[in-house]
Amino acid sequence: MSRPRPIVTIDGPAGAGKSTVSRALADRLGFVYLDTGAIYRTVALAADAEGLGSAIDRSDAPQGASVAEIARLESIAGGLRIEFEDGGRRVRLDGRDVSSEIRRPEVGQRASKVSAIPGVRRALLDLQRRIASRGGVVAEGRDVGTVVFPDAEVKFFLTADPVVRAHRRVGDLLARGIPAVLDEVLAEIEARDARDSGRAVAPLACPADAVTIDSSRLDADGVVARMEEVLTSRKNA
Ligand code: DC
Repeated sequence: MSRPRPIVTIDGPAGAGKSTVSRALADRLGFVYLDTGAIYRTVALAADAEGLGSAIDRSDAPQGASVAEIARLESIAGGLRIEFEDGGRRVRLDGRDVSSEIRRPEVGQRASKVSAIPGVRRALLDLQRRIASRGGVVAEGRDVGTVVFPDAEVKFFLTADPVVRAHRRVGDLLARGIPAVLDEVLAEIEARDARDSGRAVAPLACPADAVTIDSSRLDADGVVARMEEVLTSRKNA
């Protein structure tokens, strides 16, 4: 695929700092920031509004969600009316600003569950590729370097120790006025890691051609600086 400007992908587990770093890198490069997790979160929210919250909660249990419920979830994903504004920082669902709502921890858990449904992922592929069709995009997620944009020019895998990630997430939530307890957040992170890495379709995985960065001992500026070094060396290669 040839495009006027490159696509940079950043995959990694929950809480590794992908959002902060991806936004900062997109700003530095003058690129669009594509937050694919926000898309899955918005599907979870839209499904809840249609009374399908409990179907999502059941979808990974042995008795599971029904075939009809799965079909409805897939159709919600296929018809999602989502808009990104403010350089990808604000999200609208059916015209309503849901930027804060989608950040709630229970929406994150449901996003993780709904994203394990193959038809939901399929329905969202086109949307993600359309947004990035002209390049000049920093895309973050779990499978952006492996499945959504396998031909991306530069790929990163950003990871960090789970305890470090839990501390960061607690800080983020408290800063937003959302109550948070470290042990609970750590348990949630571990549950999400297991689900995101263990699912059959497009699991969280490090792309073979990605540069891995461990942010356990690096702040966001340090990670962005390292990414810029890689981008510069690729440009000069
Ligand atoms: O990055 P995040 O926490 O906003 O993502 C929420 C959930 O969405 C995550 O637990 C798994 C899912 N997700 C996904 O399956 N694929 C992506 N590319 C991005 C997110």
